[in-house]
Amino acid sequence: MADVVQRWEMPIRTEDDVILVRRKARMLAQERGFDAFATAALTTAASELGRNALVHGGGGGALIEHLADGTRSGIRITFVDRGPGIADMARVLAGGYSTARSLGLGLSGTRRLVEEFDIESAPGAGTKVVICKWTRY
Ligand SMILES: Nc1ncnc2c1ncn2[C@@H]1O[C@H](COP(=O)(O)OP(=O)(O)O)[C@@H](O)[C@H]1O
Ligand SMILES: [Mg+2]
Repeated sequence: MADVVQRWEMPIRTEDDVILVRRKARMLAQERGFDAFATAALTTAASELGRNALVHGGGGGALIEHLADGTRSGIRITFVDRGPGIADMARVLAGGYSTARSLGLGLSGTRRLVEEFDIESAPGAGTKVVICKWTRY
């Protein structure tokens, strides 16, 4: 079981907020000893999911947590919004589907950048995405 060492709640209401979440994720990954590849992966994931919460979800928030399991450090980020939710989850996770006329690789790509990925969404009830990434042993 992992312990939460420290947590930060950050709003996602503007593009600048998304940048702050991205920056916090990168700083924390570097401080916790993530290698350059893992740091870039987490930073990219934070940015994509933060933008989704803003652009598709109409804004919300991010909870960033520094975890420790006795051997490794982890960073968990939970993105929450109260937007329209995702009706066709399977289609979105398959990739290449976007309602914003972009590449639609944000969610499907993000999934491959982290060790843990969990998404909950119901039409009209908003979306919650949890990602977690760990340092090596
Ligand atoms: N937080 C969210 N709330 C509602 N819909 C979302 C959310 N995140 C993603 N989606 C839906 O999933 C689609 C795919 O998302 P994504 O893969 O990030 O691609 P993009 O953001 O480029 O459209 C979006 O176009 C949108 O329809
Ligand atoms: Mg996106």
